[in-house]
Amino acid sequence: MNISIEKLLNNQIRYEAQASMQYLAMASWADSTGYNGVADFFYSQSEEERAHMIKLVKFVNERGGKVIIPKLEKAMDDFENLNELFEKFLKSEMFVTEQISHVIYECLQQKDYNVHNFMQWYVTEQLEEEAMARTLLDKLNIIGSDKSGHYLFDRDIQAIAASQEQE
Ligand code: FEO
Repeated sequence: MNISIEKLLNNQIRYEAQASMQYLAMASWADSTGYNGVADFFYSQSEEERAHMIKLVKFVNERGGKVIIPKLEKAMDDFENLNELFEKFLKSEMFVTEQISHVIYECLQQKDYNVHNFMQWYVTEQLEEEAMARTLLDKLNIIGSDKSGHYLFDRDIQAIAASQEQE
C-alpha cells in the first residue's frame, strides 16, 4: 500500500475513533441530563462511528498495510444546552467529511483506484450524516430556548435512534 495513503487511512481511523468517543460522551451527557431520546441517538451514532473505524482497520489489513490503533484526545463531555451539543455534532461531521476529501484527493494523485472505490462508501455516509446533523440543528434553532420544544425534540429523535438501530 502506498505510504501516503496508508498514513491518511490511519488518520481516518483516528478521526472515526475520536468521533465514536465524542458521541459516547454526548450520549452520556444527554443521559444524565434527562434527554433520553438524544442519549439513544448519540449511543447509536457512537456505535456507527466505531463501525466506520473497524471497516477501515479491516481494509488496511486486507491490503497489507500497517494499522496504528490511535491514541485519542479527551472528548468534550460538558455542554451548555442541546444547541451546543448539536453544533458540536455538525462540526465533527463536517471535519470528517473534509478529511475524507483529502483521502480521495490523494487516491487520485496516486492513481489508487482501489482505495478510491472503497472510500466512496464513506462519501455517501458522510453526505447523509452531515445532512441529518444540519436538519437537527436547524430544528433546534427554531425551537430556541423553549422547554416544551426541547421535550418534543427529545421524543422525536428517539424515533430516529430506533430506526438507526434496525439498520
Ligand atoms: Fe464516520 Fe460520521 O464519520
